[in-house]
Amino acid sequence: MHNDQLIQSALNEVEECSSVECLEAKRVKFFGKNGLITKELKSLSKLPLEQKKELGEKLNKFKNQFFLIVENKKSIIESKEINLKLARDFLDSSLPARENNYFEAKIHPINQTINEIVSILGSMGLTFEEGPDIEDDFHNFSALNIPEDHPARQMHDTFYLKSTKTDSYVLRTHTSPVQIRALKKMQIPLGIFAPGRTYRCDSDITHTPMFHQVEGLVVDKDINFANLKWFVEKFCKIFFNKKDLKLRFRPSYFPFTEPSAEVDINYSYSSGKIILGKGSKWMEILGCGMVHPEVFKMSGVDSSVTGFAFGMGIERLSMLKYGMPDLRDFFEGDLKWLEHYGFSFFEETDLSWR
Ligand code: DAH
Repeated sequence: MHNDQLIQSALNEVEECSSVECLEAKRVKFFGKNGLITKELKSLSKLPLEQKKELGEKLNKFKNQFFLIVENKKSIIESKEINLKLARDFLDSSLPARENNYFEAKIHPINQTINEIVSILGSMGLTFEEGPDIEDDFHNFSALNIPEDHPARQMHDTFYLKSTKTDSYVLRTHTSPVQIRALKKMQIPLGIFAPGRTYRCDSDITHTPMFHQVEGLVVDKDINFANLKWFVEKFCKIFFNKKDLKLRFRPSYFPFTEPSAEVDINYSYSSGKIILGKGSKWMEILGCGMVHPEVFKMSGVDSSVTGFAFGMGIERLSMLKYGMPDLRDFFEGDLKWLEHYGFSFFEETDLSWR
């Protein structure tokens, strides 16, 4: 009877608890090291076998029940407390920040320009592709119709890497090798663009050893030069945000395109500043052309298809659009420069051209 009373009072006392602290106190009172029921359990060994069995079973069963009840009650009390706190607390998001001396991170103009290019070319139907910065001789040169003794190899000021018995490697001198990679792995029709880092062993006011290019390639059954002109014109007008921008296609030479052209856009000078889309001066901004049949052949593509390709320097596009005067500043890591020319994360991107 003594034990039944003990069990009953444990149940009653837990029932009356309304805080986590109270529950904990009851656990200690009944089942702690010197708890009332713990004592009973300890003294079981002194009882005759039959009684020991019966009472032992009863107390252990109750122990499980007790802890279950306590856990249950605990979680009910806790969730009540959380709900109360949520109802009571109020976060005033209109309060000004405590201190105003934080440094706002800026998006580097190169990243900004790449993001813009990705957005424009993506919405013009091209898909994003990439290739490795460490490129093999075949993709960087041979497959692009630049054989070993070709003078164009000298023009590229290549960084050569250690070569193996079978292959020689370079830091890619342009993004054009991605054309080959895309042609080899994709189905035709295809339309891709590939922005990325490129390297040339050259350093002066207008050259840095590492710079960025973006490559474009469109291949289908009947792609012609008019398609190329339309595409490039559309891109430039959107990118520079100038409806009246004029383009001039000037015959040129690239080993991997035939015919090839360089594209100029019109500008004028006004008080030392370049004004794009106004005036009759011309400035070169990209190279392009119809994919050379040899390129298709080297990539294992049936040469009944045709395609156009183009390549542009990202720093140049960025400098023209945003008025940075010196190329080298892009890679100096000067925070003042970044603060001035960088882009805010919070600025909304202008998508009005869509
Ligand atoms: N790869 C050329 C360079 O780095 C740029 C270029 C010109 C790419 C014409 C092209 C192209 O795809 O058709 O100077």
